[in-house]
Amino acid sequence: MTAHSMHTHSCGELRASDIGKEVTLTGWVWHRRDHGGLIFVDLRDREGVTQVSFDPEHSGGGAFRTAEAIRSEWPIKVVGEVRERPEGQDNEKLATGQVEVLVSQIEVLNSSKTPAFQIEDHVEAAEDVRLRYRYLDLRRPKMMANLKLRSDFTHALREALHSRAFMEVETPALFKSTPEGARDFLVPSRTQPGHFYALPQSPQLLKQLLMVGGVERYYQVAKCFRDEDLRADRQPEFTQVDIEMSFVEQDDVMSNLEEVFAETFAKMGVDMQLPLRRISYWDAMDSYGSDKPDTRFGMELHDVTPIFANSKFKLFASAAADERLFVKAINAKGAGAWPRAKIDKLADVACGFGAKGLAYIAFREDGSVTSPIVKFFSDEEMEGLRVEMGVEPGDLVMFAVESRLVADEILGGMRSHMAQALELPREGHDFLWVVDFPLFHWDEDRKAFAAEHQPFTQPLEEDIELLGSDDREKVLSMGSHTYDFVMDGYEAGGGGMRIHNAKLQMSVLEKLGFTEEGAREQFGFLMDALEFGAPPMGGFALGLDRVCMLLTGSDSIREVMAFPKTSSGSDLMSAAPSEVGSRQLKEVSLRLL
Ligand code: AMO
Repeated sequence: MTAHSMHTHSCGELRASDIGKEVTLTGWVWHRRDHGGLIFVDLRDREGVTQVSFDPEHSGGGAFRTAEAIRSEWPIKVVGEVRERPEGQDNEKLATGQVEVLVSQIEVLNSSKTPAFQIEDHVEAAEDVRLRYRYLDLRRPKMMANLKLRSDFTHALREALHSRAFMEVETPALFKSTPEGARDFLVPSRTQPGHFYALPQSPQLLKQLLMVGGVERYYQVAKCFRDEDLRADRQPEFTQVDIEMSFVEQDDVMSNLEEVFAETFAKMGVDMQLPLRRISYWDAMDSYGSDKPDTRFGMELHDVTPIFANSKFKLFASAAADERLFVKAINAKGAGAWPRAKIDKLADVACGFGAKGLAYIAFREDGSVTSPIVKFFSDEEMEGLRVEMGVEPGDLVMFAVESRLVADEILGGMRSHMAQALELPREGHDFLWVVDFPLFHWDEDRKAFAAEHQPFTQPLEEDIELLGSDDREKVLSMGSHTYDFVMDGYEAGGGGMRIHNAKLQMSVLEKLGFTEEGAREQFGFLMDALEFGAPPMGGFALGLDRVCMLLTGSDSIREVMAFPKTSSGSDLMSAAPSEVGSRQLKEVSLRLL
């Protein structure tokens, strides 16, 4: 800590080597213990805690009386001598645990009301109370450590990027819609009645324009805004470390990113082996049932369709006869010993992932099986299944009979659920790339093609001719230059190469359902720019909040954001969003419905 006019040391700094020094500390009264003739206070600031003690002899009557009056969370300043703690009173858990400060002077800097919850790491105050008094919540050592880690990580990323000639460029927040698949937040214009800015869902279009502008290597710690349903790993306003490069090919971008990641994570004490493993989208879906697999545990999906080609079990046999359908299975080791009622309840979980029910076989420890379907299976089918799934006593094999993606998603959901339920160990961090996403997926609600990543993604060159096809399956089989960075089973970042040819961009937008006029109206500025010598380009955005959540072992990104919003999008401290007066509405030419 840098020197200060108000204190000589932080509360985390004093050691045995400081014994005998006169020091001045500032901080909050954390715990106060009154032992009659002796008062101990744990003084806390963001760096740590120091025990300061008062006795009538050394502290003088005034200071001692003040120490009797001070209460939790009052900010104070103390002057005193560092001394060894009395025999047997060392606190090994504390960095400053060998010493205490015997106070000669105290100054009360302010008083404090009693906080709504105790400022302790282990206090489980309801989250809405923590958010209402976030400034108190931030005083908890754990929260302060989270903010510090986030600051260190961001700083290390900046250094790694800066040293590789990436240029930090800021882009506007008041802009036009930049689609990333969510709803826009709109901001009405006062000077142009009836017109709106959209807050960017990401700086995607702007960074592409920076490449056209010649920036060549760009990054930005950028706020992004997306009006979507919130979850533990989603906030309406979040931060990306946004990156773009030009005159590059996909492998150049990925290897630069890997180096930046490895250097940054190393500074956080996390080892990342390069090159990172790459799994194709379809391999990830088929083996793990997820495009962001956690590979710290197995329980892979197996295609067991061929085993049941001639089965008496109609559901499986008819799937085997239909090339669009698959019988897939996972083996949750250990769950085969669960009571039947508990296993039967898994059907509800599977339905939550899109299943219509759940076929299973529980292989009991005593060699028997419990299963609603096994009576239809021949000995060969059972044997085939045992071999394919590596069955042992205590295993629970679960099936999904669906089209490829639906089966993958159901079993992928079950895989995660079972890992949690069985408390499978997931130690260390798991990093990998998922690559080669399809260019489009089919949006059943809109009955239209939708961009799998975003509308500006470069299709694989060999697939471009399929754009003109009327065959839906052919269009859906188009590949793209895309890569997601997956950490511990979360999508921690994503990117791809961009289309830099205006005509190709228009064809993709048309496939996504835009008319030429509509595309021009929304993205005309991009289309124009692409016609002025846009270079080949590609990039990536890292979800800073998510990575920090994983690095701190938190279960929500709210734990690594200073002022997050609730799941309904409210800030409980300021009560935003809130109503505004009619005058303000009139200024922006709005009337409420
Ligand atoms: P994408 O939409 O995948 O890509 O976003 C990149 C990363 O940002 C994080 N993220 C979020 N974090 C918290 N709350 C949210 N609501 C939220 N949404 C996304 C995720 C995600 O991987 N422009 C492209 C990037 C590119 O192609 O360069 C983009 O925004 O970790």
